[in-house]
Amino acid sequence: MVAEMYLSSSPGNWESGRMMLFMRGREALAVALRSLNIGNGDEVILQGFTCLALPAAILAVGAVPVYADIDGTTLGLTAESVCQRLTARTRAVVAQHTFGRPCDIERICARMKQHDIPVIEDCAHTLPYGDSAMKLGGYGAASFYSTEWAKVISTGRGGILRLNDESLFERVRESSAQYPQARAGEILQLRLQYYAYNLLARPRLYWSIRRLYRAAVHRGLMAGNFSKDAAATACEAVVPTCMSPWQRARLAEGLARAEARRARRIQLAKTYSARIRDLGIWTWSSAEELEAAPIRLPLWTNNKRYVLDRAQHSRIELGDWFASVVQPVTGVALHRVGYANGECPIAEKAAAKVVNVMLHSRVGDRTVESVIEFLGRYRDQFLLSPALA
Ligand SMILES: Cc1ncc(COP(=O)(O)O)c(C=O)c1O
Repeated sequence: MVAEMYLSSSPGNWESGRMMLFMRGREALAVALRSLNIGNGDEVILQGFTCLALPAAILAVGAVPVYADIDGTTLGLTAESVCQRLTARTRAVVAQHTFGRPCDIERICARMKQHDIPVIEDCAHTLPYGDSAMKLGGYGAASFYSTEWAKVISTGRGGILRLNDESLFERVRESSAQYPQARAGEILQLRLQYYAYNLLARPRLYWSIRRLYRAAVHRGLMAGNFSKDAAATACEAVVPTCMSPWQRARLAEGLARAEARRARRIQLAKTYSARIRDLGIWTWSSAEELEAAPIRLPLWTNNKRYVLDRAQHSRIELGDWFASVVQPVTGVALHRVGYANGECPIAEKAAAKVVNVMLHSRVGDRTVESVIEFLGRYRDQFLLSPALA
């Protein structure tokens, strides 16, 4: 039903309902910011423990990213952490639902309403599909989704902008004629990557594919998510570009399977969560967390590097999101994306200590058993509670 809202239109007519389709999630964010008249010198609050795409979009409209700390359990913002970063120049808040787990969104929206500051939800790790999923992304003035690799649905690259405010939507629609189409060469490259990825991506091959992908991106043979010099991405223009017909067809296919896959993710999340807790290791366990159909379950470690090294050695698919407070930027380059070291202590700890168990359609029963066996073997490397980190 939602699919119909934004896909029933002919490929040339890329907008319909209050959703608009772009080449990347960050483009959707930049469009949302511009539609809110956010520009030079305006401050936009976002969380540490995020992805470079966010500050890149904020910087691209001339605004200043201001980082607020996260809660160690939700890995998202809280109303309090946002309020601590408010100034007279704050013009918007980007509230990220990390791994698809809702952040403190209702309280953040309520507090920001008092200050007349719009909230944009980062739903990159979830999708607007089904009644419960539609709730997430429906709290703020706008929200955006990503359909890049490793997201709920992949179209190779892709972003969805959802506008919850009619006047905002009209403003965006008026400016939509200016957005270019993607280049044919870029779409051809995406198609090749997409089919190769679908052919090869298996939990047992995760580390080998990751190595191959990174080498290919480094040699310029494949399009990566960011520039080779990651921090340079922050200085690049973010040009909102229409999602191509080929990507829209992949999105339609993905949406047709989304309900079944969502149910499977919830089932996997519940199975993993119960068995991980049986091992005495902390992860998400409440109904709110698991019924949100997260794409990953976080685990706090003593030593992230060691755990990931052992996982690679044992060919266990274990994720490192986010490997830095503003992945993939590290060290002194962080100041180029507006982050000052020490600014968000919990986010920094999470980047150094959180790994994640992946919940996607390729995870079968055997994968679950091997992941649980691995976690049991290295149980002493994992924490009983985020508070211990
Ligand atoms: C939390 C988060 N927000 C936004 C994005 C941006 O997505 P895109 O690469 O489509 O711009 C990502 C991408 O990985 C992400 O992890």
